[in-house]
Amino acid sequence: MILIKLGGSVLTNKDREYCFRTDVVERLIREIKKSSAEEYIIVHGGGSFGHPGAEKYDLNKENTEKPAEGMSKVQLDMRRMNNHILEMMLDEDIWGVSIPGGLVTIFEDGELYELDHEIFQRYLSLGTVPVSFGDVAIDKDRRVTICSGDDIMLGLSSLADKAIFVSDVDGIYKDKNLKDEFTEDMLPLEPEDLPEQEEAIDVTGGMNQKVKKMVEIAKKTETYLINGDEKDRLRKILNGDEVICTEVKR
Ligand code: IPE
Repeated sequence: MILIKLGGSVLTNKDREYCFRTDVVERLIREIKKSSAEEYIIVHGGGSFGHPGAEKYDLNKENTEKPAEGMSKVQLDMRRMNNHILEMMLDEDIWGVSIPGGLVTIFEDGELYELDHEIFQRYLSLGTVPVSFGDVAIDKDRRVTICSGDDIMLGLSSLADKAIFVSDVDGIYKDKNLKDEFTEDMLPLEPEDLPEQEEAIDVTGGMNQKVKKMVEIAKKTETYLINGDEKDRLRKILNGDEVICTEVKR
C-alpha cells in the first residue's frame, strides 16, 4: 500500500481562503490514475480551507475559547474541501471514500495517541480508495486539537510500503542545496537553508514540525518529499522511477 499526502500548499492558493488550484488538483489525480499504483490511500491537508479557521479558533493551542464552535466550523470547511476532491476523483473513475481524520484518531496533549487502522484496511479490501484529511479531533487533555494530514500519515505508516509527500517545493533544502537524502541530524532547518527563490515559502517553524514527522514516518517506511507543481513527478515516483525529490531517511 502506498500513502500519498497531497499537501495544502499544492492543492490550494494560500493567499485566498477556500481557493482550489483546480488545474493542479485535477492533474495530480490524473497522474495517480495513470500510474501503476494499485493499492493506495490519499491523505490531504487543509491549505486555505483548514488553516485560517484553525488559527482563528486557536485549535492547535492548549486552550481554545470556543472549542465547540471551532470544531463545528472547521470540520465543515474540511468536509467541503474533501467533497470537492472526491468529486474530482470520481470524474476519473477513482472510487474514493471519505475517512475524516477527526473520526479515526484520538490525541493526547496535541500528539497523536491512537489511529484506527482497521477501518482503512476494510475500505481498501472493498476496492475503494480511502481519502483521509487533516481535521479537528478529540484530545484527551485539551478537549480539541488539530489532526494534521501528517499525523494521519504517521498513524498509517506501519501499513505502508512507501509514503509520498506532495508539496510545492522540490524537496528539503539544507545550506541552500536541495538534498537527495535528509536525516534527523540535519534538523533543525533555518530560514537561511533555503535558496533565494524559495525564501518566500513558509518553511520555518511549520516546516521543521513537518520534517520531524517525516523522520518519524521514515522509521516505518520509505519516505519521499516531491514537488507536485512539476508535471509527472508524482506519476513517476508512484511507478518507482527516479525523480527530483528528497528521500527522508531514518
Ligand atoms: C491541516 O492539515 C488541517 C486543518 C487545519 C484542519 P495539514 O497540516 O496536513 O495541512 P497542510 O497540508 O499543511 O495544508
